[in-house]
Amino acid sequence: MTVTLIIGTQWGDEGKGKIVDYYAEKSDYVVRFQGGNNAGHTIKVGSKVYKLHLIPSGVIRGKTGVIGNGVVVDPEVLLQEMEKLENNGIKPRILISDRANVIMPYHKLLDGAEEKYLGKKSIGTTKKGIGPCYSDKIARRGIRINDLLDKNVLEEKLKVLVPLKQKILELYGFEEKLDTREILEKYTGYGQKLKPFVTDTSLELQKAIAEKRNILLEGAQGSMLDIDFGTYPYVTSSNTVAGGACTGSGISPKQIDEIIGVVKAYTTRVGSGPMVTELKDETGKHLQEKGGEFGTTTNRPRRCGWLDLVVLRYTCRISGIDKLAITKLDVLDGLKTIKVCTHYLYGNKKFENFPSNVSILGKCKPVYKEFKGWDCIDKNSKKISDLPREAWEYLRFIEKSLNTPIKIVSVGAEREETIEV
Ligand code: IMP
Repeated sequence: MTVTLIIGTQWGDEGKGKIVDYYAEKSDYVVRFQGGNNAGHTIKVGSKVYKLHLIPSGVIRGKTGVIGNGVVVDPEVLLQEMEKLENNGIKPRILISDRANVIMPYHKLLDGAEEKYLGKKSIGTTKKGIGPCYSDKIARRGIRINDLLDKNVLEEKLKVLVPLKQKILELYGFEEKLDTREILEKYTGYGQKLKPFVTDTSLELQKAIAEKRNILLEGAQGSMLDIDFGTYPYVTSSNTVAGGACTGSGISPKQIDEIIGVVKAYTTRVGSGPMVTELKDETGKHLQEKGGEFGTTTNRPRRCGWLDLVVLRYTCRISGIDKLAITKLDVLDGLKTIKVCTHYLYGNKKFENFPSNVSILGKCKPVYKEFKGWDCIDKNSKKISDLPREAWEYLRFIEKSLNTPIKIVSVGAEREETIEV
C-alpha cells in the first residue's frame, strides 16, 4: 500500500496530468484535494484526448476518483464532465465529499465583477468563481455539498446569502436580479443527481488505507499559485503545496509515503504577476508554440521563460519533495543555448531564496547558467543515457542544484514517451 502525492512545483500547467495518469495505473483511488474547475488536465490515451477540469483523471483508467473536502465544486460542470465521459463509454466511479464547498452562480458573477473592478491590477483569474467560493468558505458563509441534499437547509442559507450577494454585485454595477427560488430549485436538482456519489470521503480514504489500497493524491495548479507561499496576490485561493493534500482530503501527513514534484523543463505562467525568467523574444515564442502553451481552461497563451531554480529550490523546500518528474524536455529540442536561472539580482543584492514581496520580485533580474542545446530527443528513449549528452547534463544540473533525485523524464505527450529513472 502506498499513498503518493503529486504536485506542481511552478505556476501550474507543468504536465501533471500525464504524470498522474502514469501513476494512476498502479493506484486504486485518485484524489483531488484543492482547487476546482480552474484546473485543466489533458490526458492522451491512444488517439483520444480527454480534457478534465474537476474529475480526477484516473477515472479514465477505471480508478475511483475522489473529490475531496478541499475542492470547490461547480455541480453543473461536474455533471457535464460525468456525462461527457459516459458518452465516451467511461462510467466514472466517483466519490464526492459531503464537506466540499459549492461554487454558486453569484461566485462566478463576483469573480468577473471583481476582476473588472481591479482593471489593470486584476489577478487574471479563470473567472470560474474559485476565489469568491473559497472566500465564503473561510468566512463561514459557504454552501457545502451536504446543503444541496436538504432543500430546507439550502433555502434558509440562500435567503440570507442571495440578498447580500445582490447588494455586493450592485456595488460593482451589476444590474440583473438574482432569483433565490430559481437558484434553490436548480441546486437542489443538482444535489439529487449527485446524491449517489456523496459521502464522507475522508472516512472512505481511511478505509482504503486500512485495506492496503494504493492512493494517489493529485494536485491542481502549482506551488507558486499557493495562497500562502505563492506570488501573492497573484495566486489561486487554495493551498497547492503538499500540506494542502492533508487538509483537503483528510489523509494525515504521516500517511503520505512519497511526494513527487512535477517540473516542466522550462517555466510558464498564465495570468498576471511577476515571472523573473519570462522571455518576450523568439525563444519565448519557440517554447510557446512547440510546447503548445495555451491554457486548457481559458485557452489564454501562457507566458514562457527559462527554468527558474530559485522557484524550484523554494517549492521543493516548502513541500519536502522526495522526487522530481521532469516534463516536456523535448520542447527544448533545437535550441542552440539553454539557460537556467540560478539566482536573482535585486540591484546589487544576490537573492538565492525566493522573496515574499511581489514588488521586490518584480524588480529582480535573473542570473543564468548557460548550457549547450541539443538537436532532437529520440522519443523512444527508455534510459537517461539514451538522451543526447547535453540533455543529460541539463538534467544532472537540475538534480544536483535541487538536491532531489529525478524519477521520471517525459519526452513527449504519449504515455510511452516516458523514461523511468
Ligand atoms: P483562479 O484560480 O481562477 O482564481 O485564478 C487565479 C490565478 O491562478 C490566475 O493567474 C490563473 O491564471 C491561475 N490559475 C488557476 N488555475 C490554474 C491552472 O490550472 N493552471 C495555471 N494557472 C492557473
